[in-house]
Amino acid sequence: MEISRFRSFIAWVNQNKIQLMVVGSLIVLISLFAYFYYIMPHVNAGPLQPIPFSHRLHAGDKKIDCRFCHSYVDRSAHPGIPAVEKCLFCHKYIIANHPEIRKEHHYFDTQTPTPWKKVFYVPEHVMFNHERHIKKEVQCESCHGDISGTDRLARHEFKMGFCIKCHREKKANLDCWLSCHN
Ligand code: HEC
Ligand code: HEC
Ligand code: HEC
Ligand code: HEC
Repeated sequence: MEISRFRSFIAWVNQNKIQLMVVGSLIVLISLFAYFYYIMPHVNAGPLQPIPFSHRLHAGDKKIDCRFCHSYVDRSAHPGIPAVEKCLFCHKYIIANHPEIRKEHHYFDTQTPTPWKKVFYVPEHVMFNHERHIKKEVQCESCHGDISGTDRLARHEFKMGFCIKCHREKKANLDCWLSCHN
C-alpha cells in the first residue's frame, strides 16, 4: 500500500518535472530578492536603538530643526542627544499612547537616561569639536550625510583622510594635527 503510493508519487514527479523546476527556481529567486531587498538594508542600518527614532520622519517629513534636539552643537564639544523631556514636549500630546512613546514615559518617570547607542566615532586619540565647524557654516550633511533621509542611522567611523581632504579644500588649518591629536 505505502510503496505503491510512493511509486505513484515518483511517477507524478516525473510527469511534472518541468513545472516543478520552474516553481522551484521561482521560490529561490523570490527568496533571494526578499533577502537583498528587505534584509540586507537592515544589516547595514546600524544598531537597533531602544526607541526606533526616525530622523527621516522628524527632521525630514516634519522638518524639525536639528538644533531643536541637538542644542549644544555650536556651543560645546558635544552636541548631545536630546533628553526624553524634549521628546515629551511633543509626545505628551502627539500619539501619546503609542507603545514606543510609553517607553519614553517610562524613562522619564524612572529618571533613566535613554540608552541610545552611539553611531558616529572618531579614533580614540582624535579630539573633534563641532563649534569651529558650525561657526564656519560647514553643513551637518557634509560630515554626517543624509540624516534627514534616514530612518535608522548606521555606524560610521571618520577617518583622518576625510578631515584632511576638506581642510585642504577649505584652506583650513592643516597643522591642526597638533591640536586634533592629544
Ligand atoms: C516637535 C515635535 C516632536 C518632537 C520633539 C519629537 N517628535 Fe516624535 N513624532 C512627532 C510627530 C509629528 C510624529 C508623527 C505622529 C503620527 O504618526 O501621527 C512622531 C512620531 C514618532 C514615533 C512613531 C513613529 C512611528 O513609526 O509611528 C516615535 C517612536 C517617535 N516619534 C519618537 C520620538 C522620540 C524618541 C523623540 C525625542 C528624541 C521625539 N519623537 C521627539 C513629533 C515630535
Ligand atoms: C526630534 C529630535 C531630533 C531631531 C530634530 C534631530 N535629531 Fe539627531 N538624534 C536624535 C536622537 C534621539 C538621536 C539618538 C538616536 C539615533 O542615533 O537615532 C540622534 C542621533 C543623531 C546623530 C548620531 C549621534 C551618534 O553618534 O550616536 C547625529 C549625527 C544626528 N542625530 C544628527 C542630526 C542632524 C544632522 C539633524 C538635522 C538634520 C538631526 N539630528 C535632527 C534626535 C533628533
Ligand atoms: C566637520 C564635520 C562635522 C560637522 C559639520 C558636523 N558634525 Fe556632528 N560629528 C562629527 C564627528 C567627527 C562626530 C563624532 C565625534 C564625537 O563624538 O566627538 C560627530 C558627532 C555628532 C553627534 C553625536 C555626539 C555625541 O555627543 O555623542 C551628534 C548628535 C552630531 N554630531 C550632530 C551634528 C549636527 C546636528 C550637526 C550640524 C548642526 C553636525 N553634527 C555637524 C562631525 C561633524
Ligand atoms: C567639510 C569640511 C570639513 C571637514 C570634513 C572637517 N573639517 Fe575641521 N574645519 C573645517 C573648517 C572650515 C574649519 C575652520 C577653520 C577656521 O576657523 O578658519 C575647521 C577647523 C577645524 C579645527 C580648528 C583648527 C584651528 O584652526 O585651530 C580642528 C581642530 C578641526 N577642524 C578638526 C577636524 C577633524 C578632526 C575632522 C575630521 C573628523 C574635521 N575637522 C573635518 C572644515 C572641515
